[in-house]
Amino acid sequence: MTESHASGAFGVYLHWPFCLSKCPYCDFNSHVRRAPIDEARFLRALTAEIATPAELVPGRTVSTVFFGGGTPSLMQPATVGAVLDALAKHWSVAPDVEVTLEANPTSVEATRFRGYRSAGVNRVSLGVQALDDRVLGELGRLHSADEALAAVAIARSVFERFSFDLIYARPRQTPQEWASELKRAIAEGGEHLSLYQLTIEPETPFFALHAAGKLAVPDEDNARALYDTTQEICAAHGLPAYEISNHARPGSECRHNLVYWRTHEYAGIGPGAHGRLNIAGERHATATEKRPEAWLTRVEADGHGLVTDDILTREEMADEFLLMGLRLAEGIDPQRFTALSGRSLDPDRSAVLREHGLIETTADGHLRVSLPGFPVLDAVVADLAA
Ligand SMILES: C[S@@+](CC[C@H](N)C(=O)[O-])C[C@H]1O[C@@H](n2cnc3c(N)ncnc32)[C@H](O)[C@@H]1O
Ligand code: SF4
Repeated sequence: MTESHASGAFGVYLHWPFCLSKCPYCDFNSHVRRAPIDEARFLRALTAEIATPAELVPGRTVSTVFFGGGTPSLMQPATVGAVLDALAKHWSVAPDVEVTLEANPTSVEATRFRGYRSAGVNRVSLGVQALDDRVLGELGRLHSADEALAAVAIARSVFERFSFDLIYARPRQTPQEWASELKRAIAEGGEHLSLYQLTIEPETPFFALHAAGKLAVPDEDNARALYDTTQEICAAHGLPAYEISNHARPGSECRHNLVYWRTHEYAGIGPGAHGRLNIAGERHATATEKRPEAWLTRVEADGHGLVTDDILTREEMADEFLLMGLRLAEGIDPQRFTALSGRSLDPDRSAVLREHGLIETTADGHLRVSLPGFPVLDAVVADLAA
């Protein structure tokens, strides 16, 4: 008997796949179109597609919604409102539902933000990326640091909850420079910050530049020093990491992202959206067509853009549980791992990782990756999952 996932939070992810320009480091499903986007047509498709997971998992109460991208702040507030109305027609919505929208500083105006708030959004996540104009230029961003901070000020004035993203471990960045940038960010920020180490993703312009020796990223020691600086400064300012790249004042964590990391249930709507649905005691991994226009025509023809609907094996569920849960500072409940996989974590492997100070057990019996273990998280997970 596999463990039931029926309890816990239920989230809905909606993907808006368009951006004003493509940043050279980004491999998200985001596209630039010369012609204007037919937003009404996309809205019809998004609302139509909601019916499919709603039929597969009826009776859920939506606890979180996340408009991600791409750049969802290019959507009209009325479009966002219509999508939220459509969700409420199919499922109940929790009175304290968290509704987050990702916003790019280039598309932020106070009126627009107030429109999102009236539509039901109650949290925004802004892509600030850096507080230095030269670096923003290198990252291919269309906004200056002042424009990003102006967007943060608008977010603060309109929403009770907001977060922003910064990318660190950038070319030539020293821990001293990063420390002062991060302190400025914390002073400007709210209760939540996402701090991502720059990743050189295949098939991006940064990948080609890096391969050609024209873009140097910090070596392992420097990256480690930048990571340590991040942890020290954030913890000292009351924003400890609750996940490897996410920092919050306790109680202000992004509840939607916790749905993923705690391997709860979520529906994915829109091009290239992933879902995990618990149907008749089995866990389904779903994914929709990635290409926006191909997704649109599929939804118009079939009512949904699903291209993948796989039932996960116990081993796959257990691996995902480790992969997701060990990103969290709260760690995982080893008993839940046993219930999912039908086996215990290998005591010998755990003992070695523990001796090296890479994992530890919390007071409530959870197993978690220690602070020194986080920079080598992938290796720790691979070892435990083996
Ligand atoms: C999908 S983007 C959406 C936000 C919005 N489009 C923007 O850029 O302002 C989410 C975040 O992922 C991060 N990100 C994207 N590519 C990255 C990379 N290669 N390395 C590190 N962080 C990355 C950025 O911080 C970005 O804000
Ligand atoms: S980082 Fe954001 S704005 Fe840039 S291409 Fe990716 S999704 Fe679009």
